[in-house]
Amino acid sequence: MTAEIIDGNAIAGSIRQEIAAEVTGWADRGLRIPGLAVILVGSDPASEVYVRGKRKDCDEVGFHSNVQHLSDHVTQQDLEERILALNEDDSVDGILVQTPLPAHIDEDRIIDCIDPDKDVDGFHAYNMGRLALRRPAFRSCTPKGVMMLLEQLDIEIRGMDAAVIGASNHVGRPMTLELLLAGCTVITAHKFTRDITEKVKLADIVISAVGKPGLVTADWIKPGAVVIDVGITRGEGNRLYGDVDFDGVREVASQITPVPGGVGPMTRVALLKNTLQAAKLHQHLPADED
Ligand code: GUN
Repeated sequence: MTAEIIDGNAIAGSIRQEIAAEVTGWADRGLRIPGLAVILVGSDPASEVYVRGKRKDCDEVGFHSNVQHLSDHVTQQDLEERILALNEDDSVDGILVQTPLPAHIDEDRIIDCIDPDKDVDGFHAYNMGRLALRRPAFRSCTPKGVMMLLEQLDIEIRGMDAAVIGASNHVGRPMTLELLLAGCTVITAHKFTRDITEKVKLADIVISAVGKPGLVTADWIKPGAVVIDVGITRGEGNRLYGDVDFDGVREVASQITPVPGGVGPMTRVALLKNTLQAAKLHQHLPADED
């Protein structure tokens, strides 16, 4: 079997168009267009690229965006005060603090400061708890993007066995909760997992979010499984690598995402969806059913 390649760019592009169409005319109807505030600390080149992408996406769908680019030496207090000011700013629907943050900043306390109703990253404990309790509010962008991508494939995932590789707060854990909510039987593999190959091989859906190029090889994959690669590692010459040995796994899986061009664009469009959701919430408009 040679797997079909899932085109995340195309799927995200059509969702972006839907969002742009929905927002067209908001200003004429007296509505405030959605606004995203991004805080970027320091000069990590990858973070700068991500933030530029977020601005461009906002421009493309007609959202307002504003980026505060702060020095590496910003204090915890200054950062927290900026977030509290954005919480009070009615022109801001969504607040995103780009990670990683410098080592002297306590990231958990920063996320705790974000108003959960503006937490378009879905990282706040309130939003994680809502997902765990099957009452999702703002859902983390990468897991949400993966679910949007799975919805586009012509498969009923309820009842399927899924394996999530990686148990990070921002991807692996909420990914597991998303799949559970969708009716999958989920195992979450992590660095202490024994016999990982045998466990992953039981899965109809495999999602790898580790950041280790070539980790997932063809012998881990059940024939016909859907393989979603969330890992992104920058290698020599700025080339991007996923976690999955693409060429080998492609011969076993039924569908597979490439890196780049798979999950990345879905994460970006999920942020736009969350920002739109926040704008609707703040203006008391009916929410989407998702
Ligand atoms: N750093 C890399 N990806 C992300 C993301 O989706 N959100 C935030 N806040 N930081 C990131």
